[in-house]
Amino acid sequence: MKPPIFVRMQTEEIIMTYQNLVAEIENGILVITVNRPDKLNALNKATLQELREAIRYAKNNEDVKGVIITGAGPKSFVAGADISEFTGLDVDGGRAFAENGHNIFKEIELCPKPVIAAVNGFALGGGCELAMACHMRVASENAKFGQPEVNLGLIPGYGGTQRLVQLIGKGKAMELLMTADMVGAQEALQLGLVNHVVPADQLIAKCSEILSKIGGKAPLAIAAIVRCVDANFTGADGFKTELDEFGKCCGTEDFKEGAGAFLEKRKAEFKGR
Ligand code: COA
Repeated sequence: MKPPIFVRMQTEEIIMTYQNLVAEIENGILVITVNRPDKLNALNKATLQELREAIRYAKNNEDVKGVIITGAGPKSFVAGADISEFTGLDVDGGRAFAENGHNIFKEIELCPKPVIAAVNGFALGGGCELAMACHMRVASENAKFGQPEVNLGLIPGYGGTQRLVQLIGKGKAMELLMTADMVGAQEALQLGLVNHVVPADQLIAKCSEILSKIGGKAPLAIAAIVRCVDANFTGADGFKTELDEFGKCCGTEDFKEGAGAFLEKRKAEFKGR
């Protein structure tokens, strides 16, 4: 696989061209666009690998303060795993196929910087699972969510049976998983599957607004929030995780700055230290 090409456009903007993604950094926000619009941005193996690289870039690059993941074109966020790569899967191959997606989506979920899915159309199967692995979801009015795997004799394999229950509860998750029904953006909002619904032309702006707000907070505290919330779902003792993370926050320069700034009635300047 070819490495991404990095092009620095202006001081504030970097564009990385992958084979199946476009990734642009502007004002500290990395916008990752899954770019296979003729296949409704279905996730083939190569695209998944590039997603992994892009999220690692976000994690390790201090220019990046937050991430938006979206799909190219007006019709689809991601219409699922690429079904053309399903042929020939056997029991072991299927498990490995799912495990690869699990690992990549877990990296997204544990990204220490905020990750928002900008859902601009179909979010089906692996697309719904990708959106659910992000920390938040903002949907355009034409977004549609669903887990249609049972139509293929399958179940979700990238965490959908777990994250859908976590987000919308067991009863409704059972219904969507068993019927393969799609829900529109407004119903997804009512269910708690998405945080906001906006007109399509305001989607990226809404995500950027949320990320800019988070960008003003202490980065190490944001990363600690990710770990604590994740602990609630992994069988770890989440309360213990919170105690440990709270203690660690108290050892940061940003804590001294944040508390000091409050007492001095000025705006805190966090440095991520
Ligand atoms: N994997 C591979 N290719 C896909 C795909 C997927 N998950 N979803 C869509 N595509 C491809 C189609 O095969 C088609 O390619 P072609 O033009 O080379 O034939 C192209 O994307 C456009 O899709 P099409 O089905 O013609 O669009 P539509 O508007 O009629 O229907 C959907 C849209 C999303 C309802 C339909 O594409 C669909 O059901 N996709 C599969 C969804 C799914 O089951 N996802 C879970 C996979 S586990």
